[in-house]
Amino acid sequence: MAHEVRVHSTTWLASGVVQVEFRDPAGADLPAWEPGAHLALRLANGMTREYSLCGDPADRRSWTVAVLREPDSRGGSSWVHERLTAGTLLTVDGPRNNFPLEPAERHLLIAGGIGVTPMRAMAGELAGRGADWRMLYCGRSRESMAFLSQLQEIGGDRVRVHADDEHGGPPDLGAELADLPPGALVYCCGPEPLIGAVEAALPDPSVLRVERFRAPEAQPSTSDGGFEVDCKASGTRVFVGPDVSVLDALSDAGVPVPSSCQEGVCGTCETKVLGGEPEHRDFVLSQAERDAGETMMICVSRCRSAELVLDL
Ligand code: FES
Repeated sequence: MAHEVRVHSTTWLASGVVQVEFRDPAGADLPAWEPGAHLALRLANGMTREYSLCGDPADRRSWTVAVLREPDSRGGSSWVHERLTAGTLLTVDGPRNNFPLEPAERHLLIAGGIGVTPMRAMAGELAGRGADWRMLYCGRSRESMAFLSQLQEIGGDRVRVHADDEHGGPPDLGAELADLPPGALVYCCGPEPLIGAVEAALPDPSVLRVERFRAPEAQPSTSDGGFEVDCKASGTRVFVGPDVSVLDALSDAGVPVPSSCQEGVCGTCETKVLGGEPEHRDFVLSQAERDAGETMMICVSRCRSAELVLDL
């Protein structure tokens, strides 16, 4: 759902990281959200970018995100840094939560760099519940790491900071995860090498919950010959060739579907499946959700059968 918001304030949190606080232009309460949720910001340059909410969910007056200016920015983070100033009006979609806290006997939060943003709200939630949780917060140096003092206040000894420049390199995740107790869930958000290292170090991948900033390198599709898409509600049929996404093929055929990341990481284009065999290539749906086969992300996912039937 789209909302118009006004930038209330911007604050430097760490080297290259700006915090942006949004409020309703008329001062009304904003829709509630839960830790792990993100907003999709519609930037005036025509791009959309997703950022995790990192404030206090109990504060209904404001939504807060923190944005790292990426050196290889595709235009999103630099636009936020250069153009979002107090008073700017902006349309945002969400909040949407693809990274919810699930019940567990213990939660281990692993944050890398700006991946701390959803973790800050999660840490606050778990501390408030009196839950058993720990956090490992990794970064290149302390000056590049946002929310250090706030996390120490929230978690004290539960929060361990690993700055690479103090330890001569990245953490030994094999050692960190070696004594993971039964019943624990591991939440990880950060750059791809960190997520890959956590995946490699965990003997049981089913305990891992991940949120990615960007999609990893695409794997070749098994549906290279293309397939037909039948949109049941509109009656539109379209052929999706090997080099085009379902999303783009439908848009060209006059069946536009809301989208944002177009990389399978945000969940905006989730579409109900009525028939066919989806080839899921997103990073949002869990294995259980894939097995259920009820929805798919049509910006990246394809189809193994000759026909895909969608509720559009
Ligand atoms: S547009 Fe983000 S998952 Fe499809």
